[in-house]
Amino acid sequence: MKFFSENIDSLRELYINQLKTMLSAERQITDALPKMIDKATDQQLKQAFQSHLSETKVHVQRLEQILNETADKADDIKCKILDTLVDDTESVIGDIDDDSVRDAALIASGQRVEHFEMASYGTLRSWAQILGETGHAQILNQTLREEEHADQLLTQISDKVNPSAGTTRKVTAA
Ligand SMILES: [Fe+2]
Ligand SMILES: [Fe+2]
Repeated sequence: MKFFSENIDSLRELYINQLKTMLSAERQITDALPKMIDKATDQQLKQAFQSHLSETKVHVQRLEQILNETADKADDIKCKILDTLVDDTESVIGDIDDDSVRDAALIASGQRVEHFEMASYGTLRSWAQILGETGHAQILNQTLREEEHADQLLTQISDKVNPSAGTTRKVTAA
C-alpha cells in the first residue's frame, strides 16, 4: 500500500507534506462550515460555527505563510480524511428531519473535525520544534489553541442540545 505520492526521506519533507495536507483540510473546512451554519438551528451553535469559520480562514493564511517560507509554494495535497468526514456529515444531515437531532449530528461532526485538527497541529508543532522552526511552532500552537477552544465550545453547546435531542420521539403511523 502506498501512503505518499512522492518519496519522503526526511522529517523536514514529511513536515512539508503534512503542512500541505492540513492546508487542504483547512480549505475543505472553509467550504463546509457555511453549509453547517445554514443547517444549524440553535443560535449559539450557528454563532460558534460562524466565529470558527473566521478563525479557519486565518488558519489557511497561516499555513500558506509557513509554506511560502518553507516550500516556496503554498500548494496543497488533498486531505482524504476531511473529504470523508465532510461526505459523511452531508449524508447523515440529509437524513435527519428533527432540528435538535440535526444540531446534535452537526456538533458530533464538528468535534470529529476539531479532534483531527488538534492531533495534526500537535504533531506539526512538535516537528517544527525539532526542526528548529521556532516561529512556525508558535504559529502552529496558536492555531492548536483555537481548535481546542472551538472543541470546548461545542462540548458546552452539546450539554444543552443533546438532552433536547434526546426528548425527540419519532411519530409513527399506527
Ligand atoms: Fe483549523
Ligand atoms: Fe477547527
